Amino acid sequence: MSTDAVGRAYPRLEGREKVTGTARYAVEYPVDGVTYGWAVPSAVVRGRITRVDTAEALASPGVLAVVHHGNAPRLAPGLEADLWLLQEPTVHYRGELVAVVVATSLEAAREGARLVRIDYDAGPHSTVLTEDHPSLYKPDHVNPSYPTDTEEGDFDAGYAAAPVRVDATYRTPAYHNNPMEPHATTARWHDGRLLVHDSNQGASSVRAALAELFELPRESVRVVTDHVGGGFGSKGYAKAAVVLAALAARHVDRPVKLALTRQQLFGPVGYRTPTIQRVRLAADTDGRLTAICHDAMSQSSTILEFAEQTAVYTRSMYAAPHRRTTHRLVRLDVPTPFWMRAPGGCPGAYALESAMDELAVAVGMDPVELRIRNDTPVDPDQGRPFTSRNLAACLREGAQRFGWADRDPAPRARRDGRWLVGSGVAGSSHPARARPSSATATARPDGGFHVRINATDIGTGARTALWQVAADALGVPPERVEISIGDSDLPNAPVAGGSMGTASWSWAVIRACQALRGKLRDGVPTEAEVSAGADTSEEVGGQPDLPRYAYGAQFAEVRVDATTGEVRLNRMLGVFAAGRVVNPTTARSQLIGGMTMGLSMALHEEGLLDERYGDWVNHDLATYHITGCADVESIEAYWLDEHDGELNPAGVKGIGEIGIVGSAAAVANAVFHATGVRIRDLPIRLDKLI
Ligand code: MOS
Repeated sequence: MSTDAVGRAYPRLEGREKVTGTARYAVEYPVDGVTYGWAVPSAVVRGRITRVDTAEALASPGVLAVVHHGNAPRLAPGLEADLWLLQEPTVHYRGELVAVVVATSLEAAREGARLVRIDYDAGPHSTVLTEDHPSLYKPDHVNPSYPTDTEEGDFDAGYAAAPVRVDATYRTPAYHNNPMEPHATTARWHDGRLLVHDSNQGASSVRAALAELFELPRESVRVVTDHVGGGFGSKGYAKAAVVLAALAARHVDRPVKLALTRQQLFGPVGYRTPTIQRVRLAADTDGRLTAICHDAMSQSSTILEFAEQTAVYTRSMYAAPHRRTTHRLVRLDVPTPFWMRAPGGCPGAYALESAMDELAVAVGMDPVELRIRNDTPVDPDQGRPFTSRNLAACLREGAQRFGWADRDPAPRARRDGRWLVGSGVAGSSHPARARPSSATATARPDGGFHVRINATDIGTGARTALWQVAADALGVPPERVEISIGDSDLPNAPVAGGSMGTASWSWAVIRACQALRGKLRDGVPTEAEVSAGADTSEEVGGQPDLPRYAYGAQFAEVRVDATTGEVRLNRMLGVFAAGRVVNPTTARSQLIGGMTMGLSMALHEEGLLDERYGDWVNHDLATYHITGCADVESIEAYWLDEHDGELNPAGVKGIGEIGIVGSAAAVANAVFHATGVRIRDLPIRLDKLI
C-alpha cells in the first residue's frame, strides 16, 4: 500500500502552537529557581584584560555573580577556539563576549552588566578587508574542503586571444544573520549532567561540542531544540550563548537563561564575510565562453581560519576551455565569519551572474540566451555528467512566465512616468548533498506509528516534511504517524544546513520505516510495540561521487526614480529545479524567502565597519536595513517536476539556499537595464546611482 502524502501542501504540524504563542523557544521554558545571564562585550578591539572590577555589579540588587576569565569554570582546550570563552584575558575583536552577569531577574542582570568595570591593555588593530592588504594569503583549502585554487587550460592566453572580454571587480559588504529568535539558551546542571534548551540548527553537534568542552560523556549532555526561530547558518554549530549559559549555570549552581541581544548578534555569532571578487570572462562573438577567471578575497578572524568558498560556484556553472579560480584570505581583528545562507555560492553567484550580464551586453546577446549557449551537461570541474541539470529549462520557463520576450535589450529604454524600468536575469545553482543520519520507527498496538530522529526544524517546515515522508514510507495515512524531532536524546542526525536536512533525514526515516515494515510482515503488533532503526552512514558514504546540483533562474523587474535614484522592486520571479518537492507550501516559503534575502542583499543590507572604532557602526535592525514586506510588491516561485534517480530515496535536492543564489545579481542586472549604470559594490543605494 502506498499513500501520497509527499507532494501535498500540508500546513505545518506545529503551526497552531506557533501562531498562538504556545510553542516554546529556548528561553521560554518555565524552570524552578531560574536565574538570568547577561553577556558583557569587550570595549576594545584587540588587547588584554588587565583588571575586572566586579564590586559595583555585585553590590547591585539581585546580582549573584560576574563570571569572567578569572573565575569561570575551566573548559577543555582543543575545540574551536571561538568556543573557548571566558578562559583567557585576550581580546580578539570588539564585542567579544568577555563576561556574564548572573542575577535573579533579567533587569538585574542587565544593570549588573552595565556596572562591570573592565580595564584593557589595547593594541593597534586592522579590521578592514582591502585588495592590497599586506597580510593576504592563500589558505590550504576553502570551506568545507575544496581546493583553494583551480586551473584548467591556459586562462591568460585564452583571455588575451578572445574577441570579447569583460573584466570587472565586485564588492559585497559584511552581512549579518538576524534570525527572529536570537542565539538563546536555558542551561541547567543536575548530578553532573547538563541539560540545555538551545536555539540551534543541530542538537547532535551542539551536544558533541558541549561534551568535549565540559569533558563529559555525550550521554551526560542533552540538547533540546523543539522550536527554533530561524538561523540562516549562524546556528549551525555551538555558539557563544550556549557555552556562556552552561558556564554561568555551573558557576552559580543554578539554572541560567541567557539570550544574546539583537546587538550581540552582530559579530559574536558569525556573519557573511565581505568579499572582493574580480571576474574575467572572454567569449567568441557568438557568445560562447572561452575563458573564465574568478579571483575571490575574503576575511577571517585572528581566532580561526574560516575560508569562504566564494569562487567555487564558478567552477561548475558554465563551461569554457580555459578556467581559473582563486581564493585569498586575510586574518583581521574581527569576529570569525560563519555560514550564512548559501555560503560561498551566494556572493560568488552575485559576481559571476553579474559578469555574465556584462558579457551579454558586450556581445550584444540576450542574457537568457547567453546562459543557455554556455550550458553544459558535463560538470566542467569534475569532468563527469551532472546527475540532472535543468538550468536551461528553468531559464526558458522563467522567461516565458516573466514575459521576457517583450524586453527591449537597450538599457534606459523603458520609462513609466518618473520611473526608469528595467529587468534582469541570473542563473542559480546549489550542490545537492546528503549526510549520514539515523532514525527509528515504532509500530504501536493502537495502530499508530512513531518516528524519531534528531532533525531540527528552524522554521522551514522540516518536521512536517519528515512526517509526510514517513507516512509514505510506512504506507499509512499521515494522521497515524507521530514524529519526534529536536532532541539530542533522539537518534543522531546532522545539522539543518547546507540544504542537506531533508535529503539526509528523509533517507534515514525511509530506511527505518522500511526496516519496520520488514519486521511487520506477519501483521501489526497487537500487544507490545515493535521498533526498527536505521543508520545511513554506510549507504551515504558509499554513494558514488557525482556532480549533483539544484538549479534555478531568477528574474527581476525594478523601477528607478530618474531624479532621486530610488530603486523599487516591481516583481521577482524564480523557477527552480530541485528534485522532488515534499511540501509545496513550505517549499514555496523557502524559495521566496531566499529570493527576498537576495533582494535585501542587492538593495538594503550592509554592515558598515569603521576602522577607527574597529566594529560595525550599524548593529541593530534600525540601522542595518533588511528588506521588509513593503519592499516586495510581487514575488513568485515555481519549480519543475524533476526526477533524479541518483540523489537519495526521497529524490530531493534541498531548497533552503538555492532561492538566494543569483537573486541579488538579477536585481542588480535589472538596475543596470533600467538606468544604464552598473553598480558593482552592493548594496545599490541611490547615492551610487546619481
Ligand atoms: Mo545554511 S548557511 O547551510 O544553515
